Amino acid sequence: MATRREFVASTALSAAAVALVPLSACSQEAPPAAPVAAAASPPSQPATAGPLLRRAIPSSGEQVPVIGMGTSGSFEVGGGDAERDPLREVLRRFVAAGASVVDTAPTYGSAEDVLGDLVAEAGVRERVFLATKLSGVEGREAGLAQFEDSLRRLRTDRVELLQVHNLGDTATQLALARELRQQGKVKYVGITHFVERAHDAVAEAMQAHRPDFVQINYSPVSRGAETRIFPLARELGIAVMVNRAFEDGRLFARVKGKPLPGWAKDADASSWAQLFLKFVVSEPAVTVVIPATSKPDNESDNLRAGVGRLLDARQRAALVAALE
Ligand SMILES: NC(=O)c1ccc[n+]([C@@H]2O[C@H](COP(=O)([O-])OP(=O)(O)OC[C@H]3O[C@@H](n4cnc5c(N)ncnc54)[C@H](OP(=O)(O)O)[C@@H]3O)[C@@H](O)[C@H]2O)c1
Repeated sequence: MATRREFVASTALSAAAVALVPLSACSQEAPPAAPVAAAASPPSQPATAGPLLRRAIPSSGEQVPVIGMGTSGSFEVGGGDAERDPLREVLRRFVAAGASVVDTAPTYGSAEDVLGDLVAEAGVRERVFLATKLSGVEGREAGLAQFEDSLRRLRTDRVELLQVHNLGDTATQLALARELRQQGKVKYVGITHFVERAHDAVAEAMQAHRPDFVQINYSPVSRGAETRIFPLARELGIAVMVNRAFEDGRLFARVKGKPLPGWAKDADASSWAQLFLKFVVSEPAVTVVIPATSKPDNESDNLRAGVGRLLDARQRAALVAALE
C-alpha cells in the first residue's frame, strides 16, 4: 500500500490542494485501475501512467476519481452502431482508467437511455457512479414518476446521486430525493446550476438544505464559484461537481493556433484540455469535474488531466492570462 507520503509525492499536488484533501483521501491505496496509458492514446500525446487522483465526498468519506464525465449532447444519439460505437469506446476508456462518475439527466434527450444501454452492455454498472437529476418537474408525484422512469432508462434499481436540476422546485424535490435515499434507491442528494447569475441562489440553497453535492459551472474564464460556492462547500462539507469546464467547448476556440505554454510540462499537461481540467481540479474545494465528449481520443485526453501534478497559483494565473 502506498504511504501518504508516496501518494502525495506521486501526485505532486500543489500545497493548497494537499491541505484540502482529507487525510483519509490520501491514506488509502488507490483502487485497481488500468493506467491511463492503457487507454489507447493518440500517438502525439505522451502517455502518463498512474492512478487517477481521487477526492473524498465530505458527507461520507467515500473517494471518487476527480475526472468524471458528462452526457449532455455527447450521449444524445440514436440506437445505431455508427452513433453508439464511439461512445462505447469513450465509456470503455473511462472505466479502464478507473474513472467512475457519470452525470446525466432525464431531460438530456436520449442520454439516459444510451448510457443505461452501454453500461449494461459493458457489464460495468458496479464501477460507475451514476448521477442523474429531478429535472423540470413540479410536485412530489411528478418527481417520483420521473425518477422511476430514469431508473428504467438507466437499467438500474438505484443511482449514486440524485440532483435537483437548476434549483427547480428545490424544497419538494430534495425532500423526495431524501425519501428515496431512505429507501436505498439513492446514495447522495444534490443541487445543480450552470450559470454565474444563479450562484447566490445556489449558495442560499446550500445553506438551507445542506445537500451532499453541489454541481456548478467553473472554468478559467468563469470563476464566480470561487467567491461563495467553494468557501461555503468547504465550510458545510459539501462535495463539488464542476460542469462546463470547457465552457461547452468554447474554450478551445480561444486557444486555437496558440502553442501550449512552456510551463505546461511542469504540470504534467500535454494539451489545452488537460490544462483547463487541471485548473478546475487544482481548486481544493472541487471533488470531481465532468467534461463531456463523444470522441474516444478526447476522453483519453481528459482522463490524463487526473494524473500527475496540478496547477500552482502562478500557473493558474498564467492560464487565466492566456485566455484574456
Ligand atoms: N445545470 C446542470 O446541471 C448542467 C448544466 C450544464 C452541464 N451539465 C453537465 O456538465 C457536463 C459538461 O458540460 P457541457 O457538456 O455543457 O460542456 P463541456 O464539458 O464544458 O464541453 C463539452 C465540449 O467540449 C468538447 N471536448 C471535450 N473534451 C475535449 C478535448 N479533450 N479536446 C477538445 N474538445 C473537447 C466536446 O466536443 P467533442 O464531443 O467533439 O469532444 C464538447 O463540444 C454536461 O454534459 C452535463 O452532464 C449540467
